[in-house]
Amino acid sequence: MEAILLVGGQGTRLRPLTISTPKPLLPTAGVPFLAHQLARARDAGVERIVFATSYRAEMFEAAFGTRAQGVDLAYVSEARPLGTGGAIRNAAAALRCGADEPVLILNGDILSGHDVPAQVALHEKSGADVTLHLTEVDDPSRFGCVPTDADGRVTAFLEKTSRPVTNQINAGCYVFRRSAIDTIRKDEVVSVERETFPSLISSGRVVMGHVESAYWLDVGTPQAFVRGSCDLVLGRLASSAMPGEPGDRLTLNGAVVSPGAVVRGGTTVGRGAVVEAGATVLGSVLLDDSFVAEGATVRDSVLSRGARVGPGAILDGVILGDAAVVGPGNELRDGLRVWPGIELPATAVRFSTDA
Ligand code: GDD
Ligand code: MG
Repeated sequence: MEAILLVGGQGTRLRPLTISTPKPLLPTAGVPFLAHQLARARDAGVERIVFATSYRAEMFEAAFGTRAQGVDLAYVSEARPLGTGGAIRNAAAALRCGADEPVLILNGDILSGHDVPAQVALHEKSGADVTLHLTEVDDPSRFGCVPTDADGRVTAFLEKTSRPVTNQINAGCYVFRRSAIDTIRKDEVVSVERETFPSLISSGRVVMGHVESAYWLDVGTPQAFVRGSCDLVLGRLASSAMPGEPGDRLTLNGAVVSPGAVVRGGTTVGRGAVVEAGATVLGSVLLDDSFVAEGATVRDSVLSRGARVGPGAILDGVILGDAAVVGPGNELRDGLRVWPGIELPATAVRFSTDA
């Protein structure tokens, strides 16, 4: 089977991490995020993947070349971003399969443990034009809300609605009949969620929902990105792209963790990164050459390449950009982001909560 991987988004919610690296290439449990998706696609029987690129398009081919994780790769770039639907239509030019064959389409920021062959089997059995993986979340308003009838047929597609009619959402993995992709307008900006799905449904085409509540996460926000990386390290989602066995932490070659430091909760410690004695790092991502000094506490946070945390500083739910420096004794919390190269002097920021 062939697949199209949508990787052209700008990843704005993940800034400053995505200033220099597109979201799908961010190091996640020791490898580029997409390596996990490629490995899972291969395990599901995908042999060839067409990348639909736009933002920083050249970096994808540089990272993966023509074959990775046992899958053949091709690249189709948009001169200007065409939206999810336009990107699918554009990338389909590089597909080789026949008109009635199923094509897997994947959002490039999803970790999913669902049963792709079962989704494809439902698609074939029901003779659908499109079959969507659907899952349930607590807050459907941030996603595509997708009600189905008793036979599993999709009855509406409501993208990011403030009035969701069900907790069942689009999980960002579709099986398209190859010829159904050609119903999307060519060389135009089209949203598959706001235009293509609603119009297929209203014109009476068969759109099916494969409902499955396996492990599922959209890593598009800083919190979710950290959680996804830690879940992979902890083995909550199996990935054959993981460079090591699941465990409390993943320490890459050349990382230095002092025996007197506590590092766990699925933390990854990148190449050349250092954690000194007396430091505590829980559920975090420490990218290459980052540094956590003695007595510092880092929790649910990302330290980008070369970022430094001074002695005794506390970080909780924080993103440090490349080479950002947090001086001794600072206390940063709650989604704070420090831009690349910014240096906070000692005790410049103190988070306090009134008792
Ligand atoms: N090539 C290309 N061109 N890719 C794009 C473009 C574009 O213009 N715009 C977005 N993408 C890619 C992104 O890189 C990402 O992999 C995917 O399309 C989805 O974009 P997001 O920006 O991550 O969308 P979202 O998370 O807000 O919503 C989507 O995913 C949800 C599930 O996580 C929608 O599909 C929702 O319906 C869905 O519930
Ligand atoms: Mg997303």
